[in-house]
Amino acid sequence: MRIDIIAIIPEILEGPLSQSIVQRARNKGLVDIRVHTLRDYADNNYKSVDDYAYGGGAGMVIRPEPVYRIVHELTQERDYDEIIYVTPDGEPFTQQTANSLSLKENLIILCGHYKGVDQRIRDHLVTREITIGDYVLSGGELAAAVITDAVVRLIPGVLNDETSALTDSFQDHLLAPPVYTRPEVYRGWKVPDILLSGDPKKIEQWRLEKAMEKTRTLRPDLWKKTEREEDDASGREGDKK
Ligand code: ADE
Repeated sequence: MRIDIIAIIPEILEGPLSQSIVQRARNKGLVDIRVHTLRDYADNNYKSVDDYAYGGGAGMVIRPEPVYRIVHELTQERDYDEIIYVTPDGEPFTQQTANSLSLKENLIILCGHYKGVDQRIRDHLVTREITIGDYVLSGGELAAAVITDAVVRLIPGVLNDETSALTDSFQDHLLAPPVYTRPEVYRGWKVPDILLSGDPKKIEQWRLEKAMEKTRTLRPDLWKKTEREEDDASGREGDKK
C-alpha cells in the first residue's frame, strides 16, 4: 500500500510515522508513506498557500492552485483509490473505515489548516472527507497520523500475531475485555481464576461476557449498534427458515 500525505507542517507527522508498528511496516516494505509539503507547490516566492476568504470573515483559506498541482502530479503517476480530506465536518472515522481503507492500494490524505481548503478542491478532487472526532485540531496532520496508524496496523503481515487486530476493541462493535499478565497476585490484587484455569472455551466465554459488560456500561451507543446488528442477523436467519 502507498499513502501520500499532503501537509502544511510535515514535521508533525515525523514522530508518529517513524516509530513502533508503522515504522516496522515501512521497514518491511508493507507500506510506502510519503509526506509532501504543500508549500513546495506554492506559485509564489513567499511559499504562501493561503489567502483571505471571499465574502470576508476571520481566518485564512488554503488556495486551490498548490493543492491541485500536487494532486495532479501524484495522480499522473498512479491511480488513487481515495483522495481523503481530513476535516472536522467529514464522516466520523471508525474501525470499519480503517478496515476498508486497509484494503486499498493507493491513498492520498490532504491535511487542512486555517479555515480549511477552498471548496472547489473538495467538490472536484476530494473523494472522501473524514473527521477523527467532534473537536477542532489546529491542523489536519494529527488526524492524518491517527488514520494512517489505524489503517497501517491492519495491513496483512504488519502485526506479528495476525489475530491480534481481530480482537482489538471496536472489531464487532465491542470494547476489548480486560487483560492481565504476571505476577498472579500483585499487592494482594488477584488475576481472575478463570484465566488461570487452562480451559480455552471457558476463557473465551468469559472474555466475551466481559467485553459485552464493558461495552454496555461504558459505550451504550456502541452496544445498541451491536444489538441492532444481532437482531438483523437473527431476522435474516429467520427469513431463511
Ligand atoms: N482538522 C481539524 N480538526 C480535525 C478533526 N477533528 N478531524 C479531522 N481533521 C481535522
